[in-house]
Amino acid sequence: MSEIAEVKINGQTYELPIITGSEDEKGIDITKLRSLSGAVTLDSGYKNTGSTKSAVTYLDGENGILRYRGYSIEELAGKASFIEVAYLLINGELPNKSQLADFEANITKHTLIHEDMKRFYEAYPSKAHPMGIVASLLCSLSTFYPDSQNPNRTEEEIELTIYRLLAKLPTISAWAYKNFVGHPVVYPKNNLNYEENFLNMMFSLPAEKYKIDPVVADALNKLLILHADHEQNCSASTVRIVGSSHANLYSSISAGVIALWGPLHGGANQAVIEMLEKIHADGTPLENWIAKAKDKDDPFRLMGFGHRVYKNFDPRAKIIKKAADDVLEKLGIEDPLIEIAKELEQVALNDEYFKARNLYPNVDFYSGIIYKALGIPTEMFTVMFALGRLPGWIAQWKEMIENKEPIGRPRQIYVGENERSYVSLEDR
Ligand code: SDX
Repeated sequence: MSEIAEVKINGQTYELPIITGSEDEKGIDITKLRSLSGAVTLDSGYKNTGSTKSAVTYLDGENGILRYRGYSIEELAGKASFIEVAYLLINGELPNKSQLADFEANITKHTLIHEDMKRFYEAYPSKAHPMGIVASLLCSLSTFYPDSQNPNRTEEEIELTIYRLLAKLPTISAWAYKNFVGHPVVYPKNNLNYEENFLNMMFSLPAEKYKIDPVVADALNKLLILHADHEQNCSASTVRIVGSSHANLYSSISAGVIALWGPLHGGANQAVIEMLEKIHADGTPLENWIAKAKDKDDPFRLMGFGHRVYKNFDPRAKIIKKAADDVLEKLGIEDPLIEIAKELEQVALNDEYFKARNLYPNVDFYSGIIYKALGIPTEMFTVMFALGRLPGWIAQWKEMIENKEPIGRPRQIYVGENERSYVSLEDR
């Protein structure tokens, strides 16, 4: 017998079904609420509202659990390759040897972008933020592959678009970096794996071939896996709602990149390093910065702290914090920012304000320190987040399409003027 929720409005009781998820989460299905009662629900920021039923990722914010298709990120980050995890998220199962080989081969053969796209880069200002370039070029890919715009595309056409996206985002991203630093672009090499190819396109120079350090490639692989999906976050919800209008996958992913750019979301990794550099340069005690973060009249927030879902440690932050120590030690880098970050974490975690609000370090708090150690500039940090998140966005979009979900169109509560008549200009 399914469980029922009862809602009483103006003395009338309405019964609504309760949905139970595979981890016993409960959701009240309000599909019929308006037709039954005339009322809608209101939940600014969707803090308590489920937008869909999904089988892609499971998050337990209270217990700091994150699993992709049932596998823990601790296991995947320690044992899998990013391409394996991309396959898992998109197809629902870990690939066997031949499936993984096919998946990798299909990605490798699509890593080039059309030569006409090089002209886009020439049109951007030299210091154009790479996120602006990446978002635009991803949407523009749909104009180079017009078949992708067909809302009745076949499974094969969707699969080809998925390969093209996974293959071309590293190239588009690395070339956005080259535009930012004023260096000539480096073409993809098919004899390198996903991480190595990206690093080579980022750091090779005509006069100096980039030597791929396995420590760097391994750290990048781990970081990409840890960013690969995170259920219905701001950018994934954006990808789903844009895709629900049957806009093509390139445009839906481009919309996700744009949502991720915000400093409250993926843009936080850039904001964290800028915050740590400011604190380092300023030299005032950390307590002063904590006081600023708590001051409602001060716009300063402790970037990389807090999370909509995690009310305990973000499990990704734990793994990245350890990886940051490992990478700095293996590369022999002394970065004062990591010490500041650790001290700041301790001061905040012992402060009543942060404890009362369950504010812990999130995925962005330590990731920038590793990106910096890998030689990636701050302006590219959120692009790195997008590179990791791409398979998750694709998996979320694909699930929404396969489940034939309706176009996303929330309701509202109108609080504006009641009806009034037009007043002529002379009488105003
Ligand atoms: C990501 O959703 C996801 O899954 C996102 C993500 C993913 O993988 O996709 O995990 C990636 O976006 C991580 C978050 C990166 N953002 C930041 O690090 C920016 C700093 N954090 C905050 O802006 C904030 O914590 C959010 C945006 C992350 C969450 O905001 P919520 O859930 O809307 O919570 P809130 O803003 O209502 O905060 C609750 C209280 C408020 O104080 P009170 O009104 O109760 O007095 O906590 C305070 C906030 O002022 N607060 C902070 C704070 N974060 C929340 N105070 C100081 N510093 C902070 N960082």
